[in-house]
Amino acid sequence: MAGDPLDPEKLFSVQDEIFANRRLLETSHVPEPGRIVGRDMEITTLAGHLEDALLCSSPENVIVYGKTGTGKSLVSRWVSQRIQESAPKDVTIRATRIDCSQDTTETQVASSLARTFNDPVVTGSTVPLTGLSASNYWKLLWEALDEQYDVAIVILDEADLLSTHNPLMRLSRARENADTNARIGVIAVSNKLQYPSRLDERTVSSLRAKELPFPPYDADQLTEILERRREAFRDGVLSEDVIPLCSAFAAQEHGDARKAIDILRHAGKLAHKEGIDRVVERHVREARRLAERDRFTETTRTATMQAKAGLLALAALSLRHDRSVFTTSEIYDQYFAIAREIDLDPLSVRRFRDILKEQAFLGLLESEKENDGKGGGIHIDHRLMDDPELVYDTLSEDERLGESTLTIDSESV
Ligand SMILES: Nc1ncnc2c1ncn2[C@@H]1O[C@H](COP(=O)(O)OP(=O)(O)OP(=O)(O)O)[C@@H](O)[C@H]1O
Ligand SMILES: [Mg+2]
Repeated sequence: MAGDPLDPEKLFSVQDEIFANRRLLETSHVPEPGRIVGRDMEITTLAGHLEDALLCSSPENVIVYGKTGTGKSLVSRWVSQRIQESAPKDVTIRATRIDCSQDTTETQVASSLARTFNDPVVTGSTVPLTGLSASNYWKLLWEALDEQYDVAIVILDEADLLSTHNPLMRLSRARENADTNARIGVIAVSNKLQYPSRLDERTVSSLRAKELPFPPYDADQLTEILERRREAFRDGVLSEDVIPLCSAFAAQEHGDARKAIDILRHAGKLAHKEGIDRVVERHVREARRLAERDRFTETTRTATMQAKAGLLALAALSLRHDRSVFTTSEIYDQYFAIAREIDLDPLSVRRFRDILKEQAFLGLLESEKENDGKGGGIHIDHRLMDDPELVYDTLSEDERLGESTLTIDSESV
């Protein structure tokens, strides 16, 4: 069957002229120690906070925070793993990471932890996936810890996405409350710079956490991070300017290593798709757009239709007018028109303001209070963090939002 595009031989025998080891460019890939660049201070400090675990004492709780792609998850995972592996024979330490973007409720966190720490062979019981109350899951966790571990290190990654601070409280008070004999160290990780100041007083006093900020990478560090993953490509595939350009793009934003790696991966894939054996500047430029698109799609994946309509309204305004900053009421009017058109019950202005606040918290918008001048009064200005065209195009791919015609061409607002 010559010419059959679905011929399995052709479909799968991909001759890869570009990549030697794609895995090195996957987000889930954990680099070896020698490949973690520019984070010596953070690694040493975090290790210092946790090292009492090795003496079978309580590790300190830590809040790790900094902008996205600055190595927080990587370093937290890496250091806690090393502590687990370095435990002396008579101390059993177990480190684990909870992804709070998946486990957002107290019950989900307690259930995941109980299942992670419980070894049915040792405890003789299994932990059901669902169906128990949070307090019953906590009980199972405490039992599992008492049976099997001296020290537990729990990374609550993306902790700001938890619907409640209760997991932080339960874990940090467990020993004091005589729930368990195990020592527990919590590493709460967040990419919201305001996260430490957003915790309520009870949680703060219960956690007594050390704060560990992660600064952004500069272009040189990003270049080094990418250089150490060069082996992902076949020899001579990357033209000279590719890595510096990926780094420069990622540094322009805020020194985001994930962005840098994503751009490099996309650039390679583009060249591969074209069937050529060289990655060049134009691939990087196109890859940047794809990486931004991925990021935006990922951040808005769980957003409500209302929130998406709000973002679409702001994107449409930004494309239509010669400015990027708009007031709440300007955006609301445009949102209202879109909502009516796509048969969405428009929210009140007040609820709409909350939506904008949420989007600012997610890093999709930037909002700033402005004084109206002598007459008093204030209003809030908002602008998109991403390129309006990208936001517009991506959201328009949604079946329902795509129906809206009241966007770019409309003169209605
Ligand atoms: N110093 C570094 N050396 C090598 N690779 C790094 C370094 N920092 C980050 N990376 C890589 O960049 C990507 C993003 O890092 P990481 O997931 O740790 O960021 P983060 O700070 O947790 O971001 P977010 O807040 O979005 O979760 C990962 O693939 C990671 O392996
Ligand atoms: Mg992370």
